[in-house]
This record gives sequence, structure tokens and C-alpha cells, in this order.
Amino acid sequence: MKINVLTLFPEMFDALKTSMLGRAMEKGLIDLNLVNFRDFTYDVHHHVDDAPYGGGAGMVLQIKPIKLALDSLSKTGKIVITAPQGQTFTQKTAQRWSNESELTFICGHYEGFDHRVYDLADEVVSIGDYVLTGGELPTMSMIDATSRLIPGVLGNAMSPKEESFSDGLLEYPQYTRPADFEGQKVPEILLSGNHEKIAYWRHQQALSTTLHFRPDLLRHRQLSDEEKKMLADLERLS
Ligand code: ADE
Repeated sequence: MKINVLTLFPEMFDALKTSMLGRAMEKGLIDLNLVNFRDFTYDVHHHVDDAPYGGGAGMVLQIKPIKLALDSLSKTGKIVITAPQGQTFTQKTAQRWSNESELTFICGHYEGFDHRVYDLADEVVSIGDYVLTGGELPTMSMIDATSRLIPGVLGNAMSPKEESFSDGLLEYPQYTRPADFEGQKVPEILLSGNHEKIAYWRHQQALSTTLHFRPDLLRHRQLSDEEKKMLADLERLS
């Protein structure tokens, strides 16, 4: 996947070049193209922002350098603006984007964009109901969540399927050696070798964890008869 990022701080994206994503870049699975839109300003001081029409505090990012930076790309794919007023980014967004061959992110900074910049985008997306100083960290989160779903990026091709949110539930608890740590024992079922029972327990635990931490997720999910029974059994045991 080719990922273009229009940003005033390309060096922030060095963080993506480590670990799994770094290896995916080396393997050519991800091609990250960082474009500093300050390079598309032609005044002496290379200003990218200006005072808002109508007055008020702060500065506003101008449309021209952003449009020129976009025009410099031979293709863009889907164009995404990261901003707090956007649709909330979820695992579903990451799944949808992971099927694209090219994406372009536009990162804002300072007080925000000239409103006409939004007309350049296919999607405006937020990572949550809080305001950061710029779109770089949200863009990095979105790139990470999307890239790891591209086949070959994660070592184990199975792992994205069995994780939080991928089927609308949070992940079940995992354990590794030792089986007994200072009296805290690993649930016996996991040592039983009975794979059918283990799968049932994990599914039940995923439901229980979701009910405890994110009941809102269950309200948006159609529970199967087996899942209703799993929850009823849990309630009976508690
Ligand atoms: N830019 C600043 N805050 C943001 C947020 N919450 N999501 C996306 N982009 C942002």
C-alpha cells in the first residue's frame, strides 16, 4: 500500500519506521511517502498559515500549499483529513482502508484548516473526542491500525482475526508460563488440552470482558443463541 502524508512535521513519522511497520516498509508492503507542504509555499518566510478572516485569535492553515502538495502527487487514492470533528476511526475503518492500494492523509496543525481544505478530502476522521496539537499522532495511529491488517505485515496471519473489536468483542484473557505465579493460577481449562472447551471458554470470556468494560459494544451486536446462553451461564455462576 502506498501511503502519502502531507505534514509540516515529517520527522515525527520516524516512529513508524521501527518494529513491525519498519519491517513491512523494508519488505515493500508499505511505501510511506512524507510530503512537507511547507515546501509548496513561495513567500520569503514560507508561511503556511495566516490570520482568520473576520478576526479572532490564532492562525489558520492556508489551502494553497496543501492543494499544491496534493497536485504534486501522481495519484492520491482516498484522501483523509484527520480532525476532531471527523467521524470516529474504528477497527471497521481500518479494515475498509486496508483494502485500498493508496491512501493520502492531510495533517493539520495550529488552529485548523481553511474550511475549503475539507472539500479536498474523501473522509474526515477523528481518533476520539479530545483535541491534540496536530494530526500527526492521529495519522500515525490510523496508519498503524490499517497497515497491520495488510496480509504479510504481521508475522502470524491468524492473529488479526482473533483480537479485540475484529468481531465486535474485546479480546479474551491470555496467559503464558508460569502456570502458577505467586499463587495466581492460570484458569485450569487452558491446561486441559480440550480445544473445544477452550474455544467455548475464550468466547465466553470475550463476551464477559466486553460486558464489563464496553457494554455499548454488545448493544450494537446481534447475539447468537449460544452467546445468550454463555452470558446466562456466567450470570448464574456469579
Ligand atoms: N487533530 C487534533 N485532534 C484530533 C483528533 N482527536 N483526531 C484526529 N485529528 C486530530
